[in-house]
Amino acid sequence: MRILVVGTGAREHAICKAIGGNAELYSIMSNKNPGIARISKYQIGSENDLEGVKKFAEENKIDIAVIGPEAPLEKGIVDALEKIGVGCVGPTMEAAKIETDKVFMRNLFENYKIDGSLVYKVFDNYDDISDFIDDFGKDVVIKPVGLTGGKGVKIMGEQLKDVEEAKKYSKEIIDTKMSGYASVVIEERALGEEFTVQAFVDGKNIVPMPAVQDHPYAFDDDKGPITGGMGSYSDKNGLLPFLDKESYDQSVKIMEDTVKAINMEVGPYRGFLYGQFMLGADGPKLIEYNARFGDPEAMNVLELLKTNFVDICEGIVDGNLKGAEFRDKATVCKYIVPNGYPGNAVPNQVIDVDEKRINEAGAQVYYAAVNEKDGKIYSSSSRALGLVSVGETIDEAEKLCENATKYVKGDIYHRRDVGTADLIQKRVKHVEDLKK
Ligand code: GLY
Repeated sequence: MRILVVGTGAREHAICKAIGGNAELYSIMSNKNPGIARISKYQIGSENDLEGVKKFAEENKIDIAVIGPEAPLEKGIVDALEKIGVGCVGPTMEAAKIETDKVFMRNLFENYKIDGSLVYKVFDNYDDISDFIDDFGKDVVIKPVGLTGGKGVKIMGEQLKDVEEAKKYSKEIIDTKMSGYASVVIEERALGEEFTVQAFVDGKNIVPMPAVQDHPYAFDDDKGPITGGMGSYSDKNGLLPFLDKESYDQSVKIMEDTVKAINMEVGPYRGFLYGQFMLGADGPKLIEYNARFGDPEAMNVLELLKTNFVDICEGIVDGNLKGAEFRDKATVCKYIVPNGYPGNAVPNQVIDVDEKRINEAGAQVYYAAVNEKDGKIYSSSSRALGLVSVGETIDEAEKLCENATKYVKGDIYHRRDVGTADLIQKRVKHVEDLKK
């Protein structure tokens, strides 16, 4: 079996590691990720260059391609590879609209009466926006319709200080055709704690994974700008300290109903499905979907996966996914990022990673946006590497992970509070207070 992994980051490193020695591993990445390079036959190239990916797949007689990021899914990488006989773990361009087209996603919830949606409206002119925001009377979230690399969504009360800023930003999205559409989605702002449920999907069956909580803010105590995710944790029982079984099951049901609806609307969804939910007073609400694994969340769950990942990939491609087993342990992931991230990091700085001592300290290394040259690891302006520890409790995993961070040196920082008892207690109290 020859498997090609498309993508460059820590999520793709985790996917490659999960494939391990169970297949001949190939990869296409935009720069030399040292973790992926050492275990695969790789080509440096853009994951969005569909012709380049197809040529590499043909030359190497690839059986299955696993697509890491969303951008090539939006461009139709799966449609292109399936045409030349490569089975794909990733949805077609149409099915990927669950992530790449927010109007498609919300309309699906409305048309198929799926639970857990939010009040939303789509606009293409300023006057209607202004009236809607004035009449709504509560905080809203402003979203470009398509992909913006995680930078387009702005929330009233956070990045947008008031009604006027919300209107101005909505207008900017329409006027500049941000994300390619001259329209904007305005949703009610859901309050609560965010969590992620990911699932393997084979077109009809969905196999859910343990829930994870990511930390999007750059600095401790949820301060600073929004990032791609600074770290994440999962708990021993597959739930989270603030997320009970009933709410988890409701989230999975929402994802099952969504997969059924996608099937009816545009055909089968195959690949990984990432549901981002908010848990507040009225049960889980769907904030958005990603048509791929989460980053960092992939690292938490793949670290625990007991089932052969290659069998899972085959099951997704063949439409006969059997299930997946996970170790009953907790995990903590902490991302090490360059100082100045997000937005102002100086790239090409040497980062010294003592992998041997990190492993001895009880953590695994997953390389992200770094480049290996002449045996040295260089930073970019994005996240550098994730460290992941496993423990009987979140507390145990956190201590192992935090201790391991001292073996990474350079012009870098990380959030020290991810997975700490204090922060988790705040999360639990937040949900309890909302439910009162
Ligand atoms: N953890 C955020 C994402 O994967 O999009």
